Amino acid sequence: MTKKITVLAGDGIGPEIMAAGLAVLQTISELDQLSFEITTADFGGIAIDHFVDPLPPATLSACQTADAILLAAIGGPNWEQAKRTPEMGLLALRQALQLFANLRPIKVTPALSKLSPLKAEIAEKADFIVVRELTSGIYFGTPRERTETSALDTNTYQADEIKRILKKAFEIARTRKKKVTSVDKANVLATSKLWRQLAEEVAEDYPDCTLQHQYVDSAAMKIIAQPEEFDVIVTENLFGDILSDEASVLPGSLGLLASGSHSINGPSLYEPIHGSAPDIAGTDTANPLSMIYSVTMMLKESFGLITSAEKIEQACDEVLGNGVLTKDLGGTAKTTEFTAAVIKQLKEDEADGKNII
Ligand code: NAD
Ligand code: IPM
Ligand code: MN
Repeated sequence: MTKKITVLAGDGIGPEIMAAGLAVLQTISELDQLSFEITTADFGGIAIDHFVDPLPPATLSACQTADAILLAAIGGPNWEQAKRTPEMGLLALRQALQLFANLRPIKVTPALSKLSPLKAEIAEKADFIVVRELTSGIYFGTPRERTETSALDTNTYQADEIKRILKKAFEIARTRKKKVTSVDKANVLATSKLWRQLAEEVAEDYPDCTLQHQYVDSAAMKIIAQPEEFDVIVTENLFGDILSDEASVLPGSLGLLASGSHSINGPSLYEPIHGSAPDIAGTDTANPLSMIYSVTMMLKESFGLITSAEKIEQACDEVLGNGVLTKDLGGTAKTTEFTAAVIKQLKEDEADGKNII
């Protein structure tokens, strides 16, 4: 059956990496006889330019009626002073779709461990997932105020919001190494004290899993010093944002990490964890893997197309293993060249019968 995908290319490097993701999707569609209906919509800065609104009603509606959403990246210096910024549009979209569970996997494959700025013997042990709460916490709490001389943000969490993300983390742990690390700042914050108490309560329903608590400051250190200690990290919105960008140092670049955001039963959204990278936009140097891996996450998690996704991942591994690398990983391949290499590899693997996984 034809699946409907709403595509939000956004700003900066967004259109460049989205083109890469869609080209790979087109290739796997042809190889595996898959059928997708793509609807593109303006979102973020480009939507401000066209509609003075980062999330126009037509874009929201296209997302609500899709089977899945692909987003590249939004934001940039042009819109920092806008009344409604691209970032506000992104938060509004996450809220409107109730995308409370943001999953950010970090895995260092053999081809990548040599590329990490960290010691290969440390980086190669990383295989964990950050389960970030995405629709509450300090990103959404009110009051939020700013005057000339003071500013106020509010970190609010309801028990139900904390419990549902903790349950999600334990469910994911059951499919992995069954180890949950709940990251908080319970030595200081009231929200974290509640979070820690609820983590203990939820853990009782998952006796097959272990639960550890870790303060966010020491977790930040341990993630890059002893990544093998982690399997599932579950944490609040702001901590998850920061820790996942930090964790991208393990595989070697922010341009490698994808994410999937899920609600209870609506369409899921897949996007790189990074932003619009204004410093390299328009230079054809962005690493498109974050977008290509967002596509593979979508194929697996929204459409159950595991083999098709694994074929793409295998082709990417082979291309990286052959030393075809974008600038962020120390190479010279352009975004378009890297993408072409992945597509060529996919087709060759198919012709060789190599990708029967
Ligand atoms: P960023 O993630 O855009 O870039 C940080 C650094 O990583 C930059 O040096 C950039 O060149 C590099 N980088 C990011 N993606 C890359 C890729 N695919 N290949 C190679 N290098 C890559 O963060 P920033 O510069 O702090 O923010 C820029 C804008 O993006 C801001 O407006 C911010 O609000 C927005 N932003 C959007 C999202 C999103 O759309 N989900 C996420 C984060 C930031
Ligand atoms: C991300 C981004 C967003 C966030 C910004 C752009 C609102 O950093 O998706 O990680 O903080 O969630
Ligand atoms: Mn972020």
